[in-house]
Amino acid sequence: MNFSYCVQFFIFSVCVHIVTLFTYIIYYSDIFASIYLKTVETEYDYIIVGSGTAGSIIAHRIATETNYTYIVLEAGSKGHGLLDIPVLSPFLHKSVYDWNYETSPQENACWGMVDHKCRLPQGKIVGGSSKLNNMVHVRGNISHYADWFHRKYSNDYIKKQFEFVEKHFLHLDDLQYESKLVDSVLSAATEFGYKILESEFDLGFTKSLLSQRNGKRWSTSDNLDMSKVFSNFLVEEILFIGNTAVGVKCSLSNQKIQMYAKKGVILSAGTLNTPKILQLSGIGPAHILKSLGIPIVKDLPVGKNLQDHVTTGLDLVLFNKTVSISALDMINPINAIKYFIYGTGSFTSPGCEILGFLSTKKLATPNIQFMVLPVGLSSDRGSLLKNILGIKNNVWNNYFNRINKYATTILPIVLHPKSKGTVYINSTDPRLPPVIDPKYLSSTVDRRTLIDGLKLIKEFVNTESMKKIGATLNDIKFPGCEDHVLFTDEYFNCYIKHLTLSTYHPIGTCSMGPPTSKNSVVDTSFNVIGVNRLHVVDASVLPTMPSGNINAAVAMMASLFFETNLKSQQRMFTDVLNYCYVYDWFIEYVFRICLK
Ligand SMILES: Cc1cc2nc3c(=O)[nH]c(=O)nc-3n(C[C@H](O)[C@H](O)[C@H](O)COP(=O)(O)OP(=O)(O)OC[C@H]3O[C@@H](n4cnc5c(N)ncnc54)[C@H](O)[C@@H]3O)c2cc1C
Ligand SMILES: *[C@@H]1O[C@H](CO)[C@@H](O)[C@H](O)[C@H]1NC(C)=O
Ligand SMILES: *[C@@H]1O[C@H](CO)[C@@H](O)[C@H](O)[C@H]1NC(C)=O
Ligand SMILES: *[C@@H]1O[C@H](CO)[C@@H](O)[C@H](O)[C@H]1NC(C)=O
Ligand SMILES: *[C@@H]1O[C@H](CO)[C@@H](O)[C@H](O)[C@H]1NC(C)=O
Repeated sequence: MNFSYCVQFFIFSVCVHIVTLFTYIIYYSDIFASIYLKTVETEYDYIIVGSGTAGSIIAHRIATETNYTYIVLEAGSKGHGLLDIPVLSPFLHKSVYDWNYETSPQENACWGMVDHKCRLPQGKIVGGSSKLNNMVHVRGNISHYADWFHRKYSNDYIKKQFEFVEKHFLHLDDLQYESKLVDSVLSAATEFGYKILESEFDLGFTKSLLSQRNGKRWSTSDNLDMSKVFSNFLVEEILFIGNTAVGVKCSLSNQKIQMYAKKGVILSAGTLNTPKILQLSGIGPAHILKSLGIPIVKDLPVGKNLQDHVTTGLDLVLFNKTVSISALDMINPINAIKYFIYGTGSFTSPGCEILGFLSTKKLATPNIQFMVLPVGLSSDRGSLLKNILGIKNNVWNNYFNRINKYATTILPIVLHPKSKGTVYINSTDPRLPPVIDPKYLSSTVDRRTLIDGLKLIKEFVNTESMKKIGATLNDIKFPGCEDHVLFTDEYFNCYIKHLTLSTYHPIGTCSMGPPTSKNSVVDTSFNVIGVNRLHVVDASVLPTMPSGNINAAVAMMASLFFETNLKSQQRMFTDVLNYCYVYDWFIEYVFRICLK
């Protein structure tokens, strides 16, 4: 490594520390404000738990389309406009804005990570995981969603819900910055026999469509009335009278507070935390509740059916010269100016530029999704990404640190995994994390699909368009797989076991389905089965994986919940007031969210 490289990485590491310090300042000042500056009323029509993708949409629609009183209780604290800079999102992983969850040690996966555990970031911040995510918007196959409701709603009705949330809550925009990789990958796709998709869902490739506004991250929480969002309130359990939910018990720092809901409690705490709250409240599998001495309110399969989009392939595609975003781009002041003034430049990069939907079986429906990332794990020389993924030192030293070319990543994502896991509490202390065991790659079908996905990447890198820009497969043997011949099925089988990655799309722990099924936690109207006035609306109700990134599907579900449960039935799709609540003039000035 030459001298200028060292200087760059030195400055980059200094920046890492500055951002970390900044997050602490913002974090503690919000906690201070919650404890000392907030007056708390304790009775509302609706209590919404969690201000993530789903909770924020429900709150916004209650605020603008009904006269109900409501409150949003959020365990995380308020972020800051500067943390919304898209390229900074990795800095929020493993920070005070992350629940800092990880899987239990995996038998067939995550071996390259410390203790065989994969990390599972989830946003603990106003906005939830939509403040940490890659902003990539995919509707997926609408037919699958109609199946979730057992055809209670037509494909057309669901499509209208998508159009509605896209217009009012997600603010979609094209990539504002493209690395040199984009054109080559798209022409390679055509050469590979795939079409370029416009907006429909099908086999093919497309540039990422993003939830951004003026190049800035846009979350569903960004236009919430902040006076109705209580941050730093950890909901510990649901209060019942008989089988009717009447409120929640929560804590703010060391204070315990009870709040009451006259019409209902809406749980939108996400796939890993919603089952935890339910189990703590006595709703879950009887054997789990009994083992902890929790009185049973209702025996339901809460926490089962955990599924996730599993993948691999970091730094598998190498180049002689840079085609991607470098650490230099991150610290270059020109890019800061481009971002703040024009909303363009590398600061707006979501980290994923192109999506591909492919079939390893040459069928008409995709079973693998490519996500093309202009960066590799090795690009930051270990200052950040190694840590947020929990990569083992020997894997770092003998693989990633040995890469002396420019790395990019094509993730082959298993779209419809068969492996299913669990989220169970193992303590009655609400401050402790649940035990999360996704059982990644426990199904041989998933391993087969992922290996076939890697073989597609191998062929893809061999297209003329990719060769022209100097793409090669990384031929350093992955630590632990030295005994296998490179790029054979046996090698790839070993490789995926070691380099297993989550795309952070956990779902399914409070599955939707008919009340008669032993797998259902909520019915097709989002009511928790067997209790009254309790709803779950978030990624946990998704019973099967969407064919793509899941945020849009979660947003659609939240809007559909409001439309069918809270809004008077006669009124369909009236225009939502484009409500914009200015709560920080500095952020407003810099980001021009409401003032336009
Ligand atoms: C790193 C990352 C990248 C991703 N990238 C993409 C992407 O590019 N495209 C895409 O479509 N999807 C992506 N996703 C997935 C998507 O963002 C999530 O699926 C979606 O945000 C889930 O929404 P939710 O409402 O279910 O939960 P969340 O948005 O996670 O919201 C849950 C909220 O509840 C709060 N909460 C939890 N427990 C409690 C409690 N006890 N008391 C009070 N509040 C509580 C949490 O703090 C959080 O704010 C990504 C996710 C992650 C983590
Ligand atoms: C809310 O209350 C106002 C005034 O009482 C009334 O005019 C309006 O129709 C109500 N809106 C809804 C959605 O009920
Ligand atoms: C969408 O799903 C339906 C039902 O499973 C299937 O018939 C259809 O082929 C799928 N479409 C695509 C493009 O995968
Ligand atoms: C719960 O699980 C965690 C993680 O697996 C473990 O560290 C902890 O000791 C367990 N606690 C109890 C009470 O069993
Ligand atoms: C990249 O490097 C390899 C070997 O170092 C060389 O064979 C190849 O021609 C180079 N490709 C380009 C596009 O420079």
